[in-house]
Amino acid sequence: MGLESLKARILRSIKPTDEEIRFATYRANEIIARLKAATPRNVEIVTAGSVARGTQVRGSYDIDIFLLFPRSQDERRMEAEGLAIAKKIVNKRRGESFAIKYAEHPYVKVSFGDDKISADIVPAFKIKDATEIGSAVDRTPLHNEFVNKNLNGRQKDDVRILKAFLKNHEVYGAEAKVRGFSGYLCELLIFNYGSFEGVINAFSKMRLPLIVNVGNKLCIDPKSAEGVALEKQFKSDFVFLDPTDINRNVAASVSQRSIAKLALLSKSMLKKADMKTFSGPKYSTTMSRDRILALQKAMNIDIYLLAFKSDDIADDIVWEQLVKFRNRLGDLLAKNGFSPLQSFQNAGNGTCIVAFLINKSETGSVLLRGPSVFMGDAVNAFSGAHKASFALFLENDRVVSLDKPRYSNAHELLSGLKRNNNVTIPSHLKPASSFLFVNSEIPESYAKLLYEAFESARIRNL
Ligand code: CTP
Ligand code: MG
Repeated sequence: MGLESLKARILRSIKPTDEEIRFATYRANEIIARLKAATPRNVEIVTAGSVARGTQVRGSYDIDIFLLFPRSQDERRMEAEGLAIAKKIVNKRRGESFAIKYAEHPYVKVSFGDDKISADIVPAFKIKDATEIGSAVDRTPLHNEFVNKNLNGRQKDDVRILKAFLKNHEVYGAEAKVRGFSGYLCELLIFNYGSFEGVINAFSKMRLPLIVNVGNKLCIDPKSAEGVALEKQFKSDFVFLDPTDINRNVAASVSQRSIAKLALLSKSMLKKADMKTFSGPKYSTTMSRDRILALQKAMNIDIYLLAFKSDDIADDIVWEQLVKFRNRLGDLLAKNGFSPLQSFQNAGNGTCIVAFLINKSETGSVLLRGPSVFMGDAVNAFSGAHKASFALFLENDRVVSLDKPRYSNAHELLSGLKRNNNVTIPSHLKPASSFLFVNSEIPESYAKLLYEAFESARIRNL
């Protein structure tokens, strides 16, 4: 199937239906009317995000409504007032509820008790251009203007196709868990490369560093003085300058892995443009424990899983703490001779896991390198500290010691974790009394989180 007819088929399933658009418009207008009654006259209310731009994907978006405060106001007061207004319009008797969310900036998510589209109400400053910026989300109305002025209907449909493609392959969204392509970046990619095909073509041939000035669709030579300066300014080799603000890299939170994954996916699409490649892998997480154990046996390895309850705070914060913890623990395991083959993390419903795939091995002895004999008393301190050494040797001028290992296997290291102050457990992760599980000890609920992480980390169609 050619890409053109595939796109037509995809659009039939992902473009919001007329009925869905009518309902979203009705709901947006209804909320705006409520907000108007609760908002001082100098605060402007605007719809933003994909609903205002016509770039939303069927069934997977929110209504983004911005309350624009005068720039002269204090930022904290603007946030507090905005949140108070948003909370006031929620009608609990009708089954409506709200949650305060924290991205770069706090906002209120309102759910209407009907499982239909929810609304994000975001306080921000009203600005004319980026030089007036006062909070992280003030550019949003400028983004609306840019997209509506510069993308035609066909291109907006291509944004929807690109978003759906990235969602299917778990690289859509800037949140910490994904570190993928945000909605606005998708819009800019379609503008810059002209179409979905244009994006696919560009990514299939991608070379980094890539620095693009989206405003004039100019690819800046990374070796030029300007390119070098921009790479340094943004500390990144993947830069898409925001056409509404030259000082912002819209791709700042895209990970190298996400870029690489889109490059692979693009090659696959060019090789075989079909619904299967577009839709991505389907896997079931029923009987995850059996699936995990089958892998463990086939690979002849051990799987260690640590489980935590997490504090009720922003998902991004918990995720970042898990990343740090997994890396720290991976390093410690490696240092002690138990290098993880792969490690995984996942979180859901207040539960998180980190897991390590490690070869079955025992360490009998370790070689520890001491100081040079020419370094004063350091040698005595070293030999004093290694009284239990099997033997000391000289390697050139340095003393080395053959010692009993601190841990003979990964289990010893990991089971002592709560008592061991070599690794601090991050503040928002709460280990229960039993939190280390090996192979068949792993309960189904944790196995599910691990299997999901395993499947979403895998790459296919190479
Ligand atoms: N935005 C931003 N910076 C962020 C998050 C959001 O500038 N870190 C702005 C963008 O202009 C974005 C808008 O806020 O378009 C709304 O954000 P969001 O709902 O996350 O994205 P959408 O573009 O609406 O995409 P989706 O269809 O997934 O809702
Ligand atoms: Mg949105």
